[in-house]
Amino acid sequence: SASLTILGIESSCDDTAAAVVHGVAGKASILSNVVFGQTEIHASYGGVVPEIAARAHAEKIDHVVEQALATATKNITEIDAIAVTAGPGLIGGVLSGVMCAKGLSAASGVPLIGVNHLAGHALTPQLTNEIEFPYLMLLVSGGHCQFLLVEGHDTYTRLGGTIDDAPGEAFDKTARILGLPQPGGPSVEAASLQGDSKVFSLPRPLLNRDDCNMSFSGLKTAVLRARDDVISKHGGLPTQARADLCAGFQAAVTDVLVAKSRRALAAARAIAPSVKTLAVAGGVAANGPIRHALKQLCAETETFFVAPPLALCTDNAAMIAYAGMLRFTDGMIDDLTLSARPRWPL
Ligand code: KG4
Ligand code: ZN
Repeated sequence: SASLTILGIESSCDDTAAAVVHGVAGKASILSNVVFGQTEIHASYGGVVPEIAARAHAEKIDHVVEQALATATKNITEIDAIAVTAGPGLIGGVLSGVMCAKGLSAASGVPLIGVNHLAGHALTPQLTNEIEFPYLMLLVSGGHCQFLLVEGHDTYTRLGGTIDDAPGEAFDKTARILGLPQPGGPSVEAASLQGDSKVFSLPRPLLNRDDCNMSFSGLKTAVLRARDDVISKHGGLPTQARADLCAGFQAAVTDVLVAKSRRALAAARAIAPSVKTLAVAGGVAANGPIRHALKQLCAETETFFVAPPLALCTDNAAMIAYAGMLRFTDGMIDDLTLSARPRWPL
């Protein structure tokens, strides 16, 4: 089949992104991948503020799209389809992207395709590695935590996930509890390098339950309690105790993710016996020790392990363009009635 050139647009959380992807299903390459992050904008608020995010998306989106096209040396008329995240996410941000894409589509006549943000993450492994359906996907970010059996670009089975906080959220809250900077994942990981994970005994919720569900909010509460114990004993939080708490927290998250990945592999193979790959995506997949432990699990269970480069694990528009390419190939095109959906399960 003929090569396609797809423009992707993403604005569902705190990154304003556009990208151009070229090729065919299973063999696509990234011509440009522009991300304007809002981390600094939200830093002083201790989290993403939806109204501020929406305004920043609206201000940046046209520029980011222009830059993605220019870097790819493509004119809008050379684009086969415009793929845009239509949900789930913060509605103000999603609307910015959808309106931008509709405007471009209406002005140029280039077809419009609404993409589910989670499908973008779930299909990323195919953009970076030559892997075939079906495969098992562990999506772990600040807002999401789920195991997905991916049998096709529009065929997903959710095998389990968190029943409360996402792991990234737990990393962020733990950082806040311990006085470390946001985003919490990288700062907790860095601090844990100097820590001993065995000093504090922290819970591994639902570890032994025979399903693929997880829980992380109790773990964060345990960190809070342990911190308060240390403070009341020492009159403050010594650097070493902080590092030990970070290491203990990270080890607990790792243990839960590995144990549940093992179960999810079995559950996936019970449905689709030809599953050969475990792929991870989402910001938490950037974590070194977590990646390492999952890699080890895969070696043990004769499973192929795929962890896309960090820039493609976190929010980006190349994954949206690729997901759009697969939809376009199947003739799944939207029109100008495409609407933004704050909630949109796969
Ligand atoms: O996928 P992402 O960029 O955005 C969404 O949540 O959709 O993920 C961001 C999350 C944040 O909670 C951040 O703390 C976490 O990913 N994160 C990490 C690391 N880098 C980012 N968590 C653990 N270790 C890391 N190295
Ligand atoms: Zn995401």
